[in-house]
This record gives sequence, structure tokens and C-alpha cells, in this order.
Amino acid sequence: MAGSLGLCGQQPYTDFELSLEQVSHSFGKRRVLTSVSAAVRAGQVMVVTGPNGSGKSTLIKIAARLIRPASGRVVWRAGGRELGMDAAKGVVGLVSPELTLYDELTAIENLLFFARVRGWSGHGLVRWRGLAGAEDVAAGGGARARARAILEQVGLEGRGDDLVGTYSSGMKQRLKYAFALMHSPALLLLDEPTANLDEAGTEIVRRIIAEARGSACVVVATNEPEEVTWGDAVIRLGGVA
Ligand SMILES: Nc1ncnc2c1ncn2[C@@H]1O[C@H](COP(=O)(O)OP(=O)(O)OP(=O)(O)O)[C@@H](O)[C@H]1O
Ligand SMILES: [Mg+2]
Repeated sequence: MAGSLGLCGQQPYTDFELSLEQVSHSFGKRRVLTSVSAAVRAGQVMVVTGPNGSGKSTLIKIAARLIRPASGRVVWRAGGRELGMDAAKGVVGLVSPELTLYDELTAIENLLFFARVRGWSGHGLVRWRGLAGAEDVAAGGGARARARAILEQVGLEGRGDDLVGTYSSGMKQRLKYAFALMHSPALLLLDEPTANLDEAGTEIVRRIIAEARGSACVVVATNEPEEVTWGDAVIRLGGVA
């Protein structure tokens, strides 16, 4: 494993900022989040910690705009303006236990499929032009080269043509990082970042976060004491942590 992960300098929002403004959420009658306010800028890491069931994963999904909070606001800002939902595919890189990739496709096929879904939506395409040239992208060549390079970065070199259904749980976790990093996201959301990873895998995550500090906002949801120390700011949910 060598070289840069390509997080820095390729995504268009170098001044991206995430703000949570008095975010509250309930599922039915169960109140999960109460007036959470926080902000994280490009170059910073925010950690969300708290006991099981305290709302960490829910807050990650709200930050990703996968869930709309019952009250309060999630604001993405860059270039002096608020970004709308149309920016979502280009902005977010997500690693989560709830994320599933297609078992019946190879790792490369998964990455190309999601690149296509993202790349045909504005910023993603601009970014791909910067990386590989528009024609390459249209032909899938640039995205394929990028997928292979990223797989190498996460220690899956030589396994890109295997079906994901044949992957071990740690390999699937590594593949989620490839999925999250393919498009050089401005907002990297990591829920249980080192789940199923061995020490070498954990070291890759540390390296990804160190590199992300060059240009991206990172939000980490965790209960691991070491990972809590990664944060420039820490949100403690549920009153315990
Ligand atoms: N889709 C849902 N429908 C109903 N309740 C939900 C849903 N998602 C989460 N909850 C509830 O919201 C609360 C917070 O869940 P969440 O997954 O955000 O916690 P967490 O802090 O990530 O926990 P863990 O440490 O176990 O991952 C829990 O009580 C959970 O049961
Ligand atoms: Mg969780």
C-alpha cells in the first residue's frame, strides 16, 4: 500500500462546513436526540459518542441527510452558500454497519455501479473530469482505474474481481472505505469506523482520517476510547460516555 488516497485537492468543496442546529429527533414516542448543536469545518474531526441506543447512528444519518430531523436544521455550506439536497451524492462518503454492498457483484462492479450513480449528478462528474478526463469516465476507464487504486489503498489489491459475497467481514468493512472514498467526499461520515478490522485495517482508518484532515469534514460515531481521542470536538449523547 503506497501513495495518496486522493482525498485532498480533488473535491470541489475545500471550505465545506457541516452545522447541526438544535437537532432533535424521535422515533414514534421515543425521543432519541434533544437539541444537538455542533459544527465541523473541512480539516476537522467531530466525534459522536454515547451508550448503545443513544442516537449516534441516527445523528450520522441526519448529518448525511438520509433522515430529516423532527426539528432543527442540518446545514451544509461551501463557497459562501448553503448546499441543497442536489449536492448530496457528491458530498457524502459514508461508512456504516447499516450500509450493504451487492454480494452478487464483484468489488470493482460495486464501485463502478456507485460511481455511475454518483458521477451522473453534477459535482461528481466535474470531479471525475478532474481525475480522469470526461471520455474515460463515460467509458468507465477512469472510474475503473480509480476503483483499483482505492482497493489497493485499503489492502484489497488482487481481490477486486471477487464477488463481495465471498468477502470476510473485515474485507467488507475495507470495501466500504473504498466505496466512501471513491468520489473524494467533502463530508466523510464514519459510523463504527473500525468494526471488524484488524490492526492493519485500523491503521488504514487512522491514515484515511489523517489524510481527510487535509480537506474534508469527518464525523466519527464510536464507543472506542481511542477513537474518541481522534476528535477536535466531541458530542456526548445520552449523558454518559
Ligand atoms: N428506524 C428506526 N425506527 C425506530 N426506532 C429506531 C430506528 N432507528 C433507531 N431507532 C431507535 O433510536 C435509538 C437510537 O438508535 P441508534 O441506532 O441511533 O443508536 P446508537 O447510539 O447508534 O447505538 P449503538 O451504539 O448500539 O450503535 C434506539 O432506541 C433505537 O431503537
Ligand atoms: Mg449505532
